[in-house]
Amino acid sequence: MDATSPRPVVLVTGASAGIGDAIARRFAAGGYDIVAVARRKDRLEQLAADLAGIARVQILGGDVSVPGIPAQAVDLALETFGRLDCLVNNAGSGKWAPVHETDDATLDEVIDTSMKAPFRFCRAAIPKMGPGSSVINVGSVFGTLGGLDGGIYCAVKAGLVGLTQTMAAQYGAQGIRTNLVAPGVIKTDMTREAWNAQGFQRLNHEMTPFNREGTPEDVANAIFFLASDQGSYINGQTIALDGGWSTTKYLCLEALTCDRVAT
Ligand SMILES: NC(=O)c1ccc[n+]([C@@H]2O[C@H](COP(=O)([O-])OP(=O)(O)OC[C@H]3O[C@@H](n4cnc5c(N)ncnc54)[C@H](OP(=O)(O)O)[C@@H]3O)[C@@H](O)[C@H]2O)c1
Repeated sequence: MDATSPRPVVLVTGASAGIGDAIARRFAAGGYDIVAVARRKDRLEQLAADLAGIARVQILGGDVSVPGIPAQAVDLALETFGRLDCLVNNAGSGKWAPVHETDDATLDEVIDTSMKAPFRFCRAAIPKMGPGSSVINVGSVFGTLGGLDGGIYCAVKAGLVGLTQTMAAQYGAQGIRTNLVAPGVIKTDMTREAWNAQGFQRLNHEMTPFNREGTPEDVANAIFFLASDQGSYINGQTIALDGGWSTTKYLCLEALTCDRVAT
């Protein structure tokens, strides 16, 4: 083991793409060393190469739903850097189907990847974290509002809100904060196909007060803020990152002037 690193350390799951990749890069720019976990090791190796000279990156190629992986990742942080300051539970399954079309294999996959795995990462990490550290779970606005066809995806994201709140109560007194970010629809591999549909684009563009799409970097910036001293009194919160989509009844003027006949 290194002597305890003078730099803070973040463990990011799902760092091989999309939002997780942006989180790793944001924390590296903010002075953290990184433990990056995902199945696609080649992508993690590329991330580590990109960040050479900026941050030290330890990678763990593996499936977060395998029960031993969370403790292995936490041990890697401790063995390499001697500390763990922030855990970001970002990896998640994007399986999306209505309840009546969800088979047991899908049910198990989403629960294992997006609920059991974050729980196990928290369980492994918390005993190793000290005052001033924090956990950030990546949920979804569809976990706080529900959503057509959301099925088990919405259910597990709602479950993460409950996990966040109980951890905030349980570990807050030790100075360990737990929060959740709930992105709206962000253009990543998970949503790329949906974005190709004109109806999906309209749904998002016309109901979002901001006249732009959210980016992985928007989510990463908020997570970095929550982990930082600037966020040091924020605990047990769900922060929506959706340009106001979920908290307003916004509809753009163009949509309002469309003809639609009620039936
Ligand atoms: N994009 C959105 O609109 C949106 C909105 C709300 C919430 N979210 C949430 O944001 C998080 C990141 O999503 P994203 O949009 O960035 O998706 P993405 O581009 O598809 O990336 C998903 C990441 O999770 C990892 N992952 C998935 N299953 C895994 C498993 N079993 N074991 C290890 N790693 C796994 C993937 O890595 P490997 O494939 O290499 O394993 C990848 O790094 C998810 O929790 C998602 O539910 C996304």
